[in-house]
Amino acid sequence: MTLTVHAAPASRARPDVEMSVDLAGMALPNPITTASGCAAAGRELAQFFDVASIGAVVTKSIMVGPRSGRPTPRMAETPSGMLNSIGLQGPGIDAFLEHDLPWLASRGARAVVSIAGGTVEDYAKLAAKLRGAPALAGIEANISCPNVEDRGQVFACNASAAATVIQAVRRAAPTGVPVFAKLSPDVTDIVAIARAVVDAGADGLSMINTLLGMVIDTTTMRPVLGGLTGGLSGPAIRPVAVRCIWQVHQALPEIPIIGMGGVRTGLDALELALAGASAISIGTVVFNDPTAPLRILHELEDALAARGIERFVDAVGLGHRAPEPRPRAYPDPPGSDADTVQADTVQADTAQAGTHQADIGRLDPAAEEST
Ligand SMILES: Cc1cc2nc3c(=O)[nH]c(=O)nc-3n(C[C@H](O)[C@H](O)[C@H](O)COP(=O)(O)O)c2cc1C
Repeated sequence: MTLTVHAAPASRARPDVEMSVDLAGMALPNPITTASGCAAAGRELAQFFDVASIGAVVTKSIMVGPRSGRPTPRMAETPSGMLNSIGLQGPGIDAFLEHDLPWLASRGARAVVSIAGGTVEDYAKLAAKLRGAPALAGIEANISCPNVEDRGQVFACNASAAATVIQAVRRAAPTGVPVFAKLSPDVTDIVAIARAVVDAGADGLSMINTLLGMVIDTTTMRPVLGGLTGGLSGPAIRPVAVRCIWQVHQALPEIPIIGMGGVRTGLDALELALAGASAISIGTVVFNDPTAPLRILHELEDALAARGIERFVDAVGLGHRAPEPRPRAYPDPPGSDADTVQADTVQADTAQAGTHQADIGRLDPAAEEST
């Protein structure tokens, strides 16, 4: 058997770009984190790079008790993506607090602890258990879980259920530790859910979780996954992530967003930042390249430097700025009336800018109402 060993990204002179970020009081040396569920509690990544060198490790969603997850098979490959139905397999909060957070603290890493539950009470219990926990920088509430008290309806798909969970988490969580609500893209209006959780006390938002999908094997003519449905992740979902982050940043520009969804390179990370993400989590690509978080951090620094951007925070939401006037493409035709040509060009440019504004307006229901 041949084992492919990925070399740690080589250390080299870094461009002089200020990468530090502060998300609702969570100060990180740079905006790159792991995505929940894609690097457990960081231990496996430590053989590839120093886990303290990235902004934070976002841990696999932890529940109150130990869980064995969903039936196998749990993974299926899809075009430009992956479908998983791992379920929330894990040791439970007590074992996690005993083994995982102390290990992250011993490495000097910062942890964003992802919590998940089947009831509002579960979430509150988990948040309360995190008081005084070592390495804790933030809490990510994974609300893409079925609410066992409401016919299994996913919390994140209902504004009032999502708000109730976040309010309980915020009340029980340690003071000064920001709570991020992780949103699902499987909703009609993600801005409405974002507003509801922010009004309920979320300090920030994480988006996007996986999209619900399904694969059927045409040979066996049965669903591939043991759990039938699974979460779609990887590059296939990046445009959905960009759209969700864009819409929510436009509606709630003051709320910090941890963005994720199909990021494979520094330029992909920059795309999410331009849409409005203040930090970027690296998920599915880690299964293929365990050095990806550090590699992407370096690529992002290079991409910012190449664009003359001296601070990462200056790129956050930069895609929303008004379009610049376009230079005229051609000189005046000989013998023509320059004024008329110029007026035509301006008209054409205005029409084009208008089309662009109309596109933006379509993404923003409020803007649509006002036109
Ligand atoms: C195998 C796997 C397990 C995941 N487990 C969790 C989880 O426990 N909690 C959570 O909030 N998101 C979980 N996710 C979702 C990711 O954190 C992320 O939101 C999503 O995969 C999109 O990012 P990506 O395309 O970069 O993977 C999981 C994703 C994958 C692929």
